[in-house]
Amino acid sequence: MSTTPESDPAASVTEGRGPVGVHMRKGPLQAGQRVQLTDRRGRPSTITLQRGGEWHTHQGVLRHDTLIGQPEGIVVANDADHQYQVLRPLLNDYVLSMPRGATVVYPKDSAQIVQIADVFPGAHVVEAGVGSGALSLSLLRAVGDQGTVHSYERREDFAEIARGNVEGFFGQRHPGWQVHVGDMQEQVPRIEAPGSVDRVVLDMLAPWECLDAVRRALAPGGVWVSYVATVTQLSRLAEAIRASGVFTEPEAHETMLRTWHLDGLAVRPDHRMVAHTGFLLSARRLADDQTPLQLKKREKQSEVTAEDMAAWMPEDAVWDEHTLKRRTVTGRKARKAATHARKIADAAREGDAVAPAEDAGRADHDPQGGGGREEQTP
Ligand SMILES: C[S@@+](CC[C@H](N)C(=O)[O-])C[C@H]1O[C@@H](n2cnc3c(N)ncnc32)[C@H](O)[C@@H]1O
Repeated sequence: MSTTPESDPAASVTEGRGPVGVHMRKGPLQAGQRVQLTDRRGRPSTITLQRGGEWHTHQGVLRHDTLIGQPEGIVVANDADHQYQVLRPLLNDYVLSMPRGATVVYPKDSAQIVQIADVFPGAHVVEAGVGSGALSLSLLRAVGDQGTVHSYERREDFAEIARGNVEGFFGQRHPGWQVHVGDMQEQVPRIEAPGSVDRVVLDMLAPWECLDAVRRALAPGGVWVSYVATVTQLSRLAEAIRASGVFTEPEAHETMLRTWHLDGLAVRPDHRMVAHTGFLLSARRLADDQTPLQLKKREKQSEVTAEDMAAWMPEDAVWDEHTLKRRTVTGRKARKAATHARKIADAAREGDAVAPAEDAGRADHDPQGGGGREEQTP
């Protein structure tokens, strides 16, 4: 197991800059910052500004120096007179264009997680797995500079991508963030004092394996939210939570976000949407030695037998990427994404001291797809 010193105040550079990351979000555009360039067709591309840098596309060359020092919201033309609208990526844009190893939590779900888990400034949150760090960003924003997020991830290469992405977004280390590499169910009992955690957020294939660790770490009244992609996972986790007897009745949520087409009299829902990402299951920790109230509506229902459950979810079911039809990420792809994320982070921290290479990426609206697709430069 390894731990990174994200929580070491000496390692952060917040001094004189106000709240963590605020210098990346306002004021004139600066070297080291990410900007989103949107063309006439509405296609966004993301680059990291670098003094003397050039952005090459098949439509011409745009010099970074024409953007550095300018306000957000300008419209600029490249040397072939193709115009682009220039804005800093919002958190949603950043997450969809950043280097990616594991599938990220989609912004609509991150927003719901923060709300359903009631993540508040100053809270102590445990998260697993970290994946590419998309959800970590929303959690860190919600807890603020006075809060803490301890993120557990079993793959070192994924943890490395997340570190780069998070540092790239804030432009510095977040003083309240720690990444612990290892299995959550083994590491949490070693690191978190019993009853010390306010909120637990899990995004992994088999969250029920972490039930004991969550039960032990979570404070009475604390909220546990799990993000799962399939109904079989949802059902298995809900039954495990009920059987534990130390949580309130679990609640399930799904969020569908439909964008609209706005054009004169043609105002209607868009034809395409992201139809499914995942489900959220939430429950709250009861105080020790308490028995959960049996909800009346459940009492009326016939009891589910062990045979019913075995038929629905056999004991020997294998819960892995293959059986759940999730994308498997090779070590090579993860290392490439980690190098890319590190370059973005170095550039964000150092301004123009580091030259980020191959950094133009399009927002990718497929949560399972590879984020930060790079554009070819001629
Ligand atoms: C879908 S990804 C998480 C994505 C992340 N929430 C994001 O938004 O970028 C799931 C991650 O959980 C990790 N994981 C699975 N089981 C774990 C466990 N028991 N402890 C720690 N990490 C685990 C996997 O290695 C994988 O990186």
